[in-house]
Amino acid sequence: MVEEAKTNIPRAKLLPVPMWLLLGLAGLLLGSGWYLATYFGTGRNDVRESAPTTGNTPGEKKTPKIDPVALGERLYRFNCMACHQTDGRGQPGQYPALAGSEWVNGPDYRLARIVLHGLTGPVTVRGQTYNGNMPPHGEKLSDMQIAAILTYLRQAWGHQAGAVAVEVVTAVRQAADMRNHPWDMAELLALTAPDPLPATTPQP
Ligand code: HEC
Repeated sequence: MVEEAKTNIPRAKLLPVPMWLLLGLAGLLLGSGWYLATYFGTGRNDVRESAPTTGNTPGEKKTPKIDPVALGERLYRFNCMACHQTDGRGQPGQYPALAGSEWVNGPDYRLARIVLHGLTGPVTVRGQTYNGNMPPHGEKLSDMQIAAILTYLRQAWGHQAGAVAVEVVTAVRQAADMRNHPWDMAELLALTAPDPLPATTPQP
């Protein structure tokens, strides 16, 4: 009996502690309610919507803007760098340089063809002759991806050639639709005018 009485005393003393706990929980609930109302409530939609997308006028449809140069650089690393190297200087005697290349900075309709269908046989780049095989990339890369890579190349390493439009790549792809073998240098040099865009080409 004496033992029981002794243990009852500390038990009674424990009661005020849960009271504090309850008060604390109530405070937490109030706090999180305020947080939810502030960040997810409908009342502050204006703040939430406009904050992360500066530059968009309200009501304009928000499509993520793709930077072709950044995309092109990423695609270059995946698809071209193994041969042409990070600095675009290629491998002497094996892979021609893209940095300073007259093909990269020349007409876009020739450049697009090289990437779409590949290149074979002797080719002169910056006074050096190569005789290898560049694989085609038209099947694994979209027109948009090729345009992005070429746009990246035409401003990399100090280049100042203009961007390559997706429409040019599309026109080249359509003009050489059935082509299943790579170009050679003579063929490319014989092309003197850009392909007319598909819309202006009368279909036979
Ligand atoms: C497997 C190796 C390899 C890969 C991958 C490759 N190339 Fe090439 N590339 C070559 C070779 C080899 C030549 C030269 C072909 C010849 O001698 O006829 C060449 C030639 C070129 C040329 C014309 C010559 C010059 O140096 O300007 C361009 C432009 C070019 N490649 C761009 C690219 C781009 C862009 C990619 C990626 C989409 C790419 N290449 C991927 C091997 C490669």
